[in-house]
Amino acid sequence: MPAFDFPLDRTIYSFNNDEPFTIADACEGIQIFGGIGSGKTSGSGEALARSFLTAGFGGLVLCAKKDVLEDWKRYTRETGRAEQVLIFDASGDFVFPFLQYEIEREGEGAGYTENLVRLFTTIYETLDQGSKGEGSDPYWDRAMQQLLRNTIDLCMIARGTVSVPLIHEVILSAPNSIAQVDNNEWKKKSLCWKLLLEGHIKELDQWTQHDFNATGAFWLEEFPNLADKTRSSIVSTLTTMMDIFLRRPFRRLFSEMPDDKRKIAYPELTHRGVIVIVNLPVKEFGEAGRAAQVVYKYLWQQAVERRAATDKTIPVFLWVDEAQNFVTEYDMQFQATARSTRACTVYLTQNLPNYYAVMGGLQSKYRVDSLIGNLQTKIWHANSDPMTNETAAETIGRSWQHHETSGETYSGDSYNVSSSKNESFDYDVPPQMFTKLRKGGAVNDKIVEAIVFQNGRIWNNERTHLFAQFKQYVP
Ligand SMILES: Nc1ncnc2c1ncn2[C@@H]1O[C@H](COP(=O)(O)OP(=O)(O)OP(=O)(O)O)[C@@H](O)[C@H]1O
Ligand SMILES: [Mg+2]
Repeated sequence: MPAFDFPLDRTIYSFNNDEPFTIADACEGIQIFGGIGSGKTSGSGEALARSFLTAGFGGLVLCAKKDVLEDWKRYTRETGRAEQVLIFDASGDFVFPFLQYEIEREGEGAGYTENLVRLFTTIYETLDQGSKGEGSDPYWDRAMQQLLRNTIDLCMIARGTVSVPLIHEVILSAPNSIAQVDNNEWKKKSLCWKLLLEGHIKELDQWTQHDFNATGAFWLEEFPNLADKTRSSIVSTLTTMMDIFLRRPFRRLFSEMPDDKRKIAYPELTHRGVIVIVNLPVKEFGEAGRAAQVVYKYLWQQAVERRAATDKTIPVFLWVDEAQNFVTEYDMQFQATARSTRACTVYLTQNLPNYYAVMGGLQSKYRVDSLIGNLQTKIWHANSDPMTNETAAETIGRSWQHHETSGETYSGDSYNVSSSKNESFDYDVPPQMFTKLRKGGAVNDKIVEAIVFQNGRIWNNERTHLFAQFKQYVP
């Protein structure tokens, strides 16, 4: 089979050198669980990462920890893929002016305002994780979206472009009261007012004129009429989020345009086999690193969804270790089309509570279940988290288990040995099994163990789960 063909039934990996794992399997998504130091990264993770690289996939790697970059440099070097690595980091060799990208990219076109609003909602969702209590008010979400929509429309109609600094300044210079709308001092200083004038004198087509009128009404009537407290909370929520992209190094990376020295890190490069590593580790850059990577991931997912895949299309992977940092609602939608777009998502995290903690709100359980349910292959490494272990046992299922019990009784001068057989309907893999799996390292001869489950698959052992071993690579 020529290497440039990627039929769904091509085997790219074998568990235990015996059980094939195909491109189709990979496209259905993989979730790896395991406690700290259980061998997720160096066991099943590394084995699968290498198989994707050897098969010739392109991909996107997000970085929560600093050592992800070194690991991936090693994987790509050892699989002959080093030349296709693009490291998007704080050096500024690559930039990604994402708002400009979204406006200029080829494709459906005019939906950009809504799409940009969704992009910011996704960033907000990520940053707000954890603090999103059960009583989170949908009014705020709607009010924020409305403010964003009107800001983006105003920038686009007046200037034909939009950037984070522009959005930020428009919002900060908007009128705070109806009185201010008539105030000449304010008018002289306000960018918001200036853009309204610029849009006003433009020749607009009928539909754009409608949009502009709606935007004008928002800025000059609705917005200044909001209760002071309401307005200032919405504004500060948005400006806090924008702030991330206004500071070093993110301003340069995400707002500046390319020049001789800086190239754009186009997400579409992965479609040609490039491996983009977004090395802005959360451990180093905090919330800003998280927001920046979520932006890149979201636009990458959309770029993947726009492609029409055939057996000649290079599959792409999304590699997210410590995935609780980067999950978004959009992941579920993305996974739904992953097979037809040839996208292989791999999420690694310690346990289920990690996800519950970040996908807050009333819907938390449904969101997490839906996300994990959509990643069809589950790999469970050693874990001491009861919730994860019980869910794993439950997922694998129950069947009739045969037990043989024997006992000795001493009566008078003789021993009686008795044995009895009984059956019970019980877990195939009981929860406590997951506490006993080998975690690699020298004490385990570098062997990492895991239980693998793939929705709908019966393995060669005629069971729904597979006991798998992985050999750690590095000495
Ligand atoms: N190449 C290697 N050879 C021997 N031991 C290793 C190797 N790589 C990692 N280890 C050890 O194996 C164990 C598993 O490490 P690994 O980093 O894969 O765990 P993990 O599940 O990813 O943990 P975490 O949740 O902290 O990311 C650890 O004890 C680690 O120190
Ligand atoms: Mg790890």
